[in-house]
Parts: sequence; structure tokens; C-alpha cells
Amino acid sequence: MAPRRGDSRADSRADLAATVGRPPAASAGTVVGRSLPRREGPAKLTGAARYTDDLIVPGAWFGFTLRSTEAHARLLGLELDPAFDWSRVVVVTAAEIPGENVVHLMADDQPALVADVIRHVAEPVALVAAADPATARAARDAIRLRTEPLPAILDPLASERAFARYEIGRGDVEAGLAAADLVVEGTYRVGYQEQLYLEPQAMIAVPGEDRGVTVHGSLQCPYYVHAALARALGLAGEQVVVIQEETGGGFGGKEEYPSMLAIHASLLALRAGRPVRIVYDRHEDVAATTKRHPAVVTHRTGVTRDGRLVAQDVDVVMDAGAYATLSPVVLSRGAIHAAGPYACPNVRIRARTMATNTPPNGAFRGFGAPQTEFAAETQVNRVAEALGVSPLELRRRWAYRPGDVTPTGQVLRESVGAGVVLERVAEAADYEPVRARTAEARMARATRPAGARTDRLDGRTAHGIGLALAWHGAGFTGAGERFLASVAGVERSADGQVLVYTDSTEIGQGARTVLSQLVAEALGVPAEAVEVAPGDTSVVPNSGPTVASRTTMVVGGLLIRAAERLRADVEARTGAPFATSYRTDAAQAGRVRFDEQFEGYPGIVWDDATHRGDAYPAYSWAAAVAEVDVDLDTGEVRVGSVVAADEIGRVVNPVLAAGQVEGGTLQAVGYATIEELQARDGRYLNDRLATYLVPTAVDAPRIEAILLEEPFAGAPHRAKGLGELPMDVGAPAVIDAIHDATGAWIAELPATPERVLAALEAREGRR
Ligand code: MOS
Repeated sequence: MAPRRGDSRADSRADLAATVGRPPAASAGTVVGRSLPRREGPAKLTGAARYTDDLIVPGAWFGFTLRSTEAHARLLGLELDPAFDWSRVVVVTAAEIPGENVVHLMADDQPALVADVIRHVAEPVALVAAADPATARAARDAIRLRTEPLPAILDPLASERAFARYEIGRGDVEAGLAAADLVVEGTYRVGYQEQLYLEPQAMIAVPGEDRGVTVHGSLQCPYYVHAALARALGLAGEQVVVIQEETGGGFGGKEEYPSMLAIHASLLALRAGRPVRIVYDRHEDVAATTKRHPAVVTHRTGVTRDGRLVAQDVDVVMDAGAYATLSPVVLSRGAIHAAGPYACPNVRIRARTMATNTPPNGAFRGFGAPQTEFAAETQVNRVAEALGVSPLELRRRWAYRPGDVTPTGQVLRESVGAGVVLERVAEAADYEPVRARTAEARMARATRPAGARTDRLDGRTAHGIGLALAWHGAGFTGAGERFLASVAGVERSADGQVLVYTDSTEIGQGARTVLSQLVAEALGVPAEAVEVAPGDTSVVPNSGPTVASRTTMVVGGLLIRAAERLRADVEARTGAPFATSYRTDAAQAGRVRFDEQFEGYPGIVWDDATHRGDAYPAYSWAAAVAEVDVDLDTGEVRVGSVVAADEIGRVVNPVLAAGQVEGGTLQAVGYATIEELQARDGRYLNDRLATYLVPTAVDAPRIEAILLEEPFAGAPHRAKGLGELPMDVGAPAVIDAIHDATGAWIAELPATPERVLAALEAREGRR
């Protein structure tokens, strides 16, 4: 069935298939709201799609990276083994960087190659290229680093250097806590998470005329790479071209790191005078690239005896790693979402992200919010237990409604979907009836005679159900979208084609399909009539990075406005509808293109200095109910099902939207249960697919995605963001379900068998 306002769902494969090719029930248009197949799907399915590693570049050499093995050390020098034949290779060190030795992003503190101080394990120190991979690898292994160890800071709580600190709040927290009948305290820890895109990082640099360079690679943000290359190579912008090739997933992991790779490949290419390709294998990719920030989040929550929320005091510490990368903005987003989607008169959120001698952490789907919302939701579930009320009922009372005010002082005026996602997910998952049954089973286990192993009533497992609710701001935080001033355009070419110009990249999320649908609808033509220009910085404008759940909402909005201007232009000339006249008009008028530049959403005011105001133009809302079986002997958790309701303003393509919910939910289930990157002395211990576990098809729960629409008036198509949202809500729902099954709270992700057993034993001990 097709989505319609406040009542749309895509809950089975049959339903999803049924939406394809059918007009939506309520949405006005003929293209938006339909599950058109993803544009790049057939090429990916048949193997015709060519990823960076598949590209044949005649004469290209193979580049490799020599990395540090120490967490903190002075680099005294490089020793090249005199027995090696160095005439067959090129070597590049920091001294040979023609521009600034920096991977330009925010703080510009990260070098492309270590010059004097190594600040983390796996930091790039030198680059080597040769005509064949074996020679290049042998050359890399023939270089020895002379170093002098320095003391390393590995614990963010022991670090004294912050990359950013924020304090957000309203009301008087201490007074609120003092007036509360009950104060619940909790400390929550989350570890690293690896993005694990299917295609590892890859880049090919081709030297051009006048020392210029063109790079082809797997990336999310062509203009980030472009700016970083110009800076490091000392080139003018027009000497640098960045081309996004078919990209096998990003999840934030290809937001900033491709700039590093592009600089490396370009340095080697310029030195060798020929193209150079660098393709990481999985081990190097996991060992060297950014991860989700580990965090420690502490809550003090004050409530009245009758269950009113009166105070929230939240402290967030994120481990940034050795360089700032995007940590200040990851922290900002994490902090803004840290109190959860609940109205509270007295809130204080203090947050800091600390420097450690570990590989820098960076962007990952959710961008700080999954960490803080896991803590917020688990805290709310614990408060519900303490009050003896249902987690659903407590959220019904507390969840934001239109008119409520957020911790930054933003008044939520419209498109507040907290209530609708909560009700729909509870209904679809049969939440209260199932919860009543699991409570009975728990009670029966607890009242069995002492002596017998009490937990065997249902065999070896206990079943539980859990609930969580989340919000996620779409687009850049605060004034970010205004600063980006994104540009996107639509053209009717001289030969009568419609072409979309944007650097928003297709990374598996369906951007090309969704943006074409929006443009087609605005023009009144079929989606197939709309082509998308290649992601090449010499062709497309800077529409901002493909991050922050902003593509459909922000760039989609710009493209609709550009398309409306194109349509009006053609129709004014021809006096006929665009659809029937744009091809013939091409013969007379030739090429016509309209670009739109982002200027701001109405009424959005933000102060970066104080973190006060409208943090996001709009929020999307998600609720999830998870059901788990916990093996009481081994501590293993099996997530059997997740029902997720996501309210996103308007559903442009139901199948693709449901795909985002399914993928994000599965990543959240992995985060909750098995994804754990262990580190010792600043080095990841399990940086391989053999040892870093992620859910596979056999681990995947049954996922039901319910898509809901509360239109956002600020965007011409009423759509908000979706990509990151499902990642916020799955983990706390799973942890709540483990508690429902066992009575034990897991305060540290992931809930590995060891942690579950320890929590069960601690609980037994208390009894
Ligand atoms: Mo993202 S985590 O905003 O690519």
C-alpha cells in the first residue's frame, strides 16, 4: 500500500513490491511517493558497475602507505635499506609535500604525512609506489622508522586536551533535581563502531597539465576532497578535479578519510609523473580509517512521584582520537540530542571531546547522536522501571509535542512526529500485550524454588521486548546550511535532455533515484526523462557534502526550485506544458539551466557561540520495538524482530526509504550486540573481518519498517531527513528488551555474551 499522511507503512516485501509503479494514494504528484527502482541497481546487480578498483588506467602504479606502529613518538628519521633497489620505486615523505602538510577539514591539525611527531598507531608516515604491488610493498617494508617513544594518553577521561566543549541548557537543573521526588543516575559507555562499507577506500590520481591532478575515487563529498587536495598540493582550485566513481557504501566513513587518500595518491602521482592507485585492503581500511566515537555518558534524571520529568543533567565525553577531524561537530550533534525527545523544564548538557593517542574518530551514520541517544533512552527505560510504569506510557507523557521547547531553546512548531511513531510502533509490535507475557514469564522464573537453576523455565532462553524513541535533526547543525550555501541546478540541454547538476553522491542510499523523482515531479515529466550529471567537480556545483541526512531535504529542495524555474521558463516561451514542449523548445532556445543557492529556512535562528536557538530546521522521529531471546547459560542475545516507525515528513520512494530503515536498524542491532573493536595500547586488536563481527543475513532480525509523514512546511516537497535516524533507536530498544527478558541492565555496548553473563551474575548476587 502507498504512503499517506500519518498512515503509511511498507511492512512486507509483498507490500513494497505492490507500491512499484502505482500512484500514491494521497500524495498529489505522479512520481514522488512511488517506489521507482534504484537507478544504479541493475549495474550493481549484474556486476557491470565499475568501482575504483575496477577502473583500468594504463600505466598506473600501485601506491602503499608506511604507517606508525607507536601511539606517540618523536620521528627521528627514515632509514632506507641500502640492499633494496630504490630506482624502481618512488618514495614520498612529509618533506616533499608541495603545499601545506594538512588534511584540510575543520581545525587543520592533521598532517597528510607525519613530519616530526607520531600521534597514533597506523598514522601515515611515508608513501611508496611502484609498477607492481609486490615491488611497492617490498619497498615499504624496506623502510625503517627511527623513533623515540613519548608517553601516550589513551583514555579520554585522563586527557586534558579538549577539541571542543559545549554546555547547553535551560531552566535550573540543580533546583529541578532538588525538587524531584526521585533522582535516577546512570553511566553509559559505548565503544568504537566500524562503518564497514562493502567497498574499502580506494583512490586513483592522474597527473594533468601544469602540475594539476584529477582523482577518481570512492567518496561521499567531492568538494571536501577538492579543497583538501588544493591545500596540500598548493594548487589553484581549477587545477584539481575530483570524480566520484561508483561507491560501495559510505555511512560517514567516506566523509573525511578520502581526502587523506586523495592527497596520498596525488603526491605519489605527481612524484612518479604517472597515475597512481591506492586501494586499501580490508585490514588496512579497518586499522587506519575513522570509527564511531567511543563515549561515556552520565545522566541524572529528576522525576516527581506522579511521573513528571523535572530535570535532566547529562554529561558527555567523546574520545576524539589524535586529531580533531569532525569531532567538534559530532560532539555538537551528540550533545543537542543527548536529552532525548522529551519536554523538560530544567536541562543541562555538558559535553567534551578529548584528544587521545588513538586513530582519529569521525563521521558515522548518526554523527554522535546514536551514542547519546542510547544513553538517554536506556536512562528513560530505567526511570520507567523505577516509577513502576510502562516505558510506553512514560514516553506518551514526556515526548515532544508541537509547542514544546528543546534544550537549545528551539520551539518545535510543526512536523513533530514523536507521538505518531510511538503509537504506531506500539500497535504494530503488539507492545503492551507481549510485555505483559514476558513479565509473567519473568515472575514465574523468579518465584521458582531456590536451589534449582531458576532460569530454565522456558528452556535455556528468556524472551524480552524493548522500546526506544529518538529524534534526529536533518541537515547541518545551526547556521551550518547557511554557511554551506549549497548550489544545485537543473538543465534542459540543447538536445532536449533534462539533466540534474549536483555533487550529492550516490553511495547506495538512492540519492540519484530520489533526486530524479523530485525533479521529474516538479517538471511534470516521467522520472526516466531526468538524467543526473556525473559526480565530477569540473561538471557539477558544490551542493555541500552528502552527509547529515541532508540530501533529500536540502538538495532536493534546491532542485525542485530550480526545476520550477526551468519549467516556468520553457512554458512561458512555448505556451504549452513543459512535458509536451521542452524537447521542441530545445531546438529554438538551446541549452537552458537554472541553479538555486541555499539561503536558509524561514524563521531559523541560531547562535554558534552559545549553542542557543534553532539547532535544526526540522527533526525526524523514530520509535523501535525489539524482541530478543537471551540464552541464560551463554549470555548470547538473539534479536528476533525489530518493528521500526520512522516519521520523515514525506516519503519520496517507499522501497528506498524502507531500505534505509532496514539497513540502519541492522547496523544498530550490530552496535547493540556484537560489533566491538577492541584496542590495547592504542592499537585495534581485531581489525579484520575474521575478528570484527557484524550481523550477516543469518543474524538479521525480521525488520518491519513503518513510514509516516508529518509534512515539514520549510521544504517545497515537505520531506525531512532519514539516512541516520534508524541508527539512533535500535540499540536502546535491544538493551531494553534484554532487560525485559532478564531483569538485568546492560550499561555498556555492545551487549556481548560476557557482559550479559556478568550483568546476570551481578543481579543474582543482589538477590
Ligand atoms: Mo555523515 S555520519 O553525516 O556522513
